[in-house]
Amino acid sequence: MASELVVEKCLENYKHSFREDILSGKVAFITGGGSGICFTIAEIFMRHGCRTVIVGRKMDRLQLSAETLTKATGVKCLPVQADVRKPQEVMAAVDKCLQEFGRVDIVVNGAAGNFLCSLEHLSFNAFRTVIEIDTLGTYNVSKAAFDKYLKDHGGVIINITATLQHRGTLLQAHLGVAKAGIETLAKHQAIEWGPKGVRVVNVAPGPVESTEGLRRLSLGLPVELLNDIIPVGRVATRQELGEVCLFLVTDMAGQITGTTLTVDGGSWMVSGNEKQRMSMYRQFRSKM
Ligand code: NAP
Ligand code: COA
Repeated sequence: MASELVVEKCLENYKHSFREDILSGKVAFITGGGSGICFTIAEIFMRHGCRTVIVGRKMDRLQLSAETLTKATGVKCLPVQADVRKPQEVMAAVDKCLQEFGRVDIVVNGAAGNFLCSLEHLSFNAFRTVIEIDTLGTYNVSKAAFDKYLKDHGGVIINITATLQHRGTLLQAHLGVAKAGIETLAKHQAIEWGPKGVRVVNVAPGPVESTEGLRRLSLGLPVELLNDIIPVGRVATRQELGEVCLFLVTDMAGQITGTTLTVDGGSWMVSGNEKQRMSMYRQFRSKM
């Protein structure tokens, strides 16, 4: 059965906190930009004058998302199909960006795959798949952009990671390892590429409302329950993630590189790794 095409929506009544032209003339290459958090990152960049390339595997959704983004912002967005696991496709996607816009100033590595699964049930291929999309995908995209443009012009790479690896999280070994790998890669890139004018920063969200990630990881629990646990009293909005990324790609963040900014309302410090969660997961699996 063909999966339903979810149409992404832009923010209503957006108010600029920064100068509206702060990213004017810039170009951002955003993997995962066809949906979820990275769609909103693309929108916020575009509302500040940045042209974007959004990358994913599903061209129909990318096209629709690009049209929606351009309609809301009046700024050009190019949808490009590529699987971040495949270096040839990634290099071709960066070439398309350079052919269309002549530059790439910002890279956002947001493409990811995740699901809840215990180590006991995780297959060899399932573990490998998540590492390939998240960690290798981030490496492939960053390397292609660096080789083809950033090494001569500088720029900023933002990796969207997570908090699950901060201490190890039930049912998330695959994603934790994948995101920890990205965060380590960023440190190495930061020291080797810093002298070339490239900053590399990880943004680690906790639960973010209205996202596929939250839908997959929440075991069907209502968001109100999460809100009760989180120190700031609520899950993050996609806009909050977008605004943090906006700050990080401006010159105001010129000293920030090789590090991770956690954007989770304090959630990872208090969320449980408890038996209850494991037993909910067992019930969840028994219905699969
Ligand atoms: P999402 O909407 O499902 O975003 C994932 C995106 O990655 C999709 O647009 C998907 O597009 C793309 N993608 C997946 N595999 C790909 C591949 N092999 N090649 C190219 N693109 C691929 O999920 P989200 O919840 O917004 O998550 C966005 C990012 O935030 C992820 O890095 C995630 O780990 C992180 N994060 C999310 C949360 C949360 O609460 N949502 C919390 C912590 C971290 P196609 O299907 O078209 O390929
Ligand atoms: N639990 C356990 N294993 C799972 C799983 C789940 N819910 N979903 C997939 N897998 C396993 C598959 O069984 C397969 O392993 P196998 O060959 O041993 O059976 C392996 O993972 C790869 O699955 P496949 O469907 O072939 O991979 P894909 O490359 O087509 O898709 C996924 C990648 C599985 C991550 C898919 O869910 C996806 O495309 N996700 C993108 C969106 C997303 O995850 N958003 C949230 C971001 S936080």
